[in-house]
Amino acid sequence: MSAETQTAPTTPAKSMDDIMSLCKRRGFVFQASEIYGGINGFWDYGPLGAQLKKNLRDKWWRDMVMNPCAGDAGPNGAPVRNVALDTCIIQNPRVWEASGHVAGFNDPMVDCRESKARYRADHLLVLKPAGDHDGQMYAYVENDDAQRATALKKLSKYTKRDLGGADVESVSLVSLGDEALARIVGPDASEPGTLTAPRAFNLMFKTYIGATAGEDDVAYLRPETAQGIFLHFKNVVDTTRVKLPFGIAQTGKSFRNEVTPRNFTFRSREFEQMELEFFCHPEESRAWYEFWRDWRMHWWESVGLKGENLILREHDADELSHYSDATSDIEYRFPFTSPGFGELEGIAHRGCFDLNAHQEHSKQKLEYFDPTRGELAKNGQPKGERYLPHVIEPSAGLDRGVLAILCEAYTRDESRPSPEFMKLHPEMAPIKAAVFPLVNKDGMPEVASRLHAELFRRFGMLGAIETDAKQSIGKRYARMDEAGCPFCFTVDGQTQEDQTVTVRDRDSGGQERINIDAVPGFLSDKLGVG
Ligand code: GAP
Repeated sequence: MSAETQTAPTTPAKSMDDIMSLCKRRGFVFQASEIYGGINGFWDYGPLGAQLKKNLRDKWWRDMVMNPCAGDAGPNGAPVRNVALDTCIIQNPRVWEASGHVAGFNDPMVDCRESKARYRADHLLVLKPAGDHDGQMYAYVENDDAQRATALKKLSKYTKRDLGGADVESVSLVSLGDEALARIVGPDASEPGTLTAPRAFNLMFKTYIGATAGEDDVAYLRPETAQGIFLHFKNVVDTTRVKLPFGIAQTGKSFRNEVTPRNFTFRSREFEQMELEFFCHPEESRAWYEFWRDWRMHWWESVGLKGENLILREHDADELSHYSDATSDIEYRFPFTSPGFGELEGIAHRGCFDLNAHQEHSKQKLEYFDPTRGELAKNGQPKGERYLPHVIEPSAGLDRGVLAILCEAYTRDESRPSPEFMKLHPEMAPIKAAVFPLVNKDGMPEVASRLHAELFRRFGMLGAIETDAKQSIGKRYARMDEAGCPFCFTVDGQTQEDQTVTVRDRDSGGQERINIDAVPGFLSDKLGVG
């Protein structure tokens, strides 16, 4: 899933602790059930985070459903056509048998009998002296530099050699096999042999429908929004005028009982996806795969992620599912993966795997009849062709997108009076502007209040327009900087004389004066709205 491609970062490292602390302090993200001590793998969004998440979801909806690809033509030269669906989280459990999730949606899990900690087996690396070695080895969780350093120290002590990072190898725990377990010391253990052999753990959350709660009543919370789309492919074709090629889009919650949720919201147990299943003729599928792969990469840049922090990673042949011709991941350089990258979105060529599986399990025909294809009849018209479409799936994580935007936006500049600020793209910013009276007297609050009402009327649909008269102006600016508000307008003593206000730019901290009547025009230019 996530790549750890090693390339040098060009931006200074940001601290996840700093980012998480700002998120909590300013109300972007809170721990779920915080007053009860939290619950591992679940996160809630505060007022600013909820609006930021909505802004990202709305942009996806605009660019994928309402005006797909901002009007760009697809590889067939025609405008891209997508429609939307909103399907249930709980479906007939046979759906998940057909999709392969009941049998195969597993992660390998390892428990430590000594520390009671649980690990993803495929995330554990084992440190040993290079070459053959039949002594003790030390496990650590990949990308955890502190754990690796501890493992190295323990290995040096055990081998009575100062290994210092040289002549050591990190090998995957899974590659070593079960017999090596007796010689491995777990990341949180003191003795070897306390890790269990990896066991398959199904990631779907189980629940029961109705009052009996017996084995016949088992149902699952969906682990992806995609399957709801495949189930209604035929209904959409039959009830709308869509013709292939076209896509069906859906956003919504998905649930995975992750073995080791971690890295803030990156791997959560409840999260939101934004998925498109794009149906096309098999012969055109490669061109559509390449189109979506490139377009989605461009889209992530348009929400404010810097190109240098994004990579497109094509999967190697041995990473592909048996039904997939090609898959690529769009990955972002998160502070906790740096210098490597973590997955934001996968673009998969799924062939006709899903429609075929549901057709076989449900015994319902899901083929598409295309009257424009097939051999020519005597009258020179095509006879038509019946086929199962191929599917290209750009599948993005909304929460991961929000996390990437928060990480990208977080900026520290010690030369500023208040060094932390959030450089959010104006389209993503939950607060679009703030209007302040410099002081709470001399007619300034009245003028500020009129300007605030005007901006609220014009731009309130896009996000919050704040006003605030408490505390010093510096403190009010600092508050807005941390919230990522791009522009603050201040009414001061000069406003009465020449009808101008100051505009403060969040990123430079610089100010200019503009006429109060020009403020709505200034803001619509900056927010890119007409
Ligand atoms: N329908 C295909 C599918 O679900 P996936 O790669 O498993 O593919 C798609 O998931 C996206 O969903 C990922 O790229 C990621 O952004 C997001 N995602 C997956 N698991 C997640 C988790 N545990 N927490 C947060 N986001 C997750």
